[in-house]
Amino acid sequence: MHRAAPAIALEDVRLTLASAAGPVNILAGISLNVDAGETVALLGPSGSGKSSLLMVAAGLESPTSGHVRIAGHDLTEMGEDSLARFRRGQIGIVFQSFHLIPTMTALENVAVPLELLGCGDAFGRARAELEAVGLGTRLDHYPAQLSGGEQQRVALARASAPQPKVLFADEPTGNLDGATGAEVADLLFALHARANDAVPRDARRGPGAALRPHRAAGQRAHHQRRTGSPHPSTSSG
Ligand SMILES: Nc1ncnc2c1ncn2[C@@H]1O[C@H](COP(=O)(O)OP(=O)(O)O)[C@@H](O)[C@H]1O
Ligand SMILES: [Mg+2]
Repeated sequence: MHRAAPAIALEDVRLTLASAAGPVNILAGISLNVDAGETVALLGPSGSGKSSLLMVAAGLESPTSGHVRIAGHDLTEMGEDSLARFRRGQIGIVFQSFHLIPTMTALENVAVPLELLGCGDAFGRARAELEAVGLGTRLDHYPAQLSGGEQQRVALARASAPQPKVLFADEPTGNLDGATGAEVADLLFALHARANDAVPRDARRGPGAALRPHRAAGQRAHHQRRTGSPHPSTSSG
């Protein structure tokens, strides 16, 4: 039904937030299409709005105006409950600081979201996902018993286990040392290759990773941060 729709379609997305000094225009009319199977790196200086754009595209933040469509489904027209349900099944997110649930084992961190989705054999699938990221021997470890790289692998397994339409990652290697970060980046691209889905990611800290996406979408480096008027430009290559 939605086969021809881009995996991600942002249409004139604006985000204005209130601050003590008055309204701040964080996203000033962003339009961007990402096709199924594409990987896109979001590049820009600190404070240019990369995380904000990612949060809006992933449905975690509502834009002030504009449309956000994931695989043809308009997130901006969904109620809170259906958006939450849609996000759980169709959108995977990996954060810089892992965001695992500390009281759950690696296996539970991956399996519980699958259970919430009504997936049969959630624990069996979670085990397979963790084995796929090289953590088959760490299933019963709690996050505090895992290294940063291992925790991010669990987060990757958790994000990709429901086979989402889109996998977002916001500086997923930002808290890791260079070698570990490179391993996590490799894993991310391997998961993408496996799923053939789109992976927009913020690669500011990953010089190697920034070379690998099919496409980079950047915000002009000289925009006025204070007035918050980023002018997006995209380049293909
Ligand atoms: N809740 C908020 N209220 C007001 N301004 C915010 C809020 N969150 C972020 N900002 C501002 O939005 C801009 C973009 O932030 P962010 O998306 O985190 O940028 P990046 O990820 O590119 O570093 C920054 O100038 C930041 O100060
Ligand atoms: Mg950021």
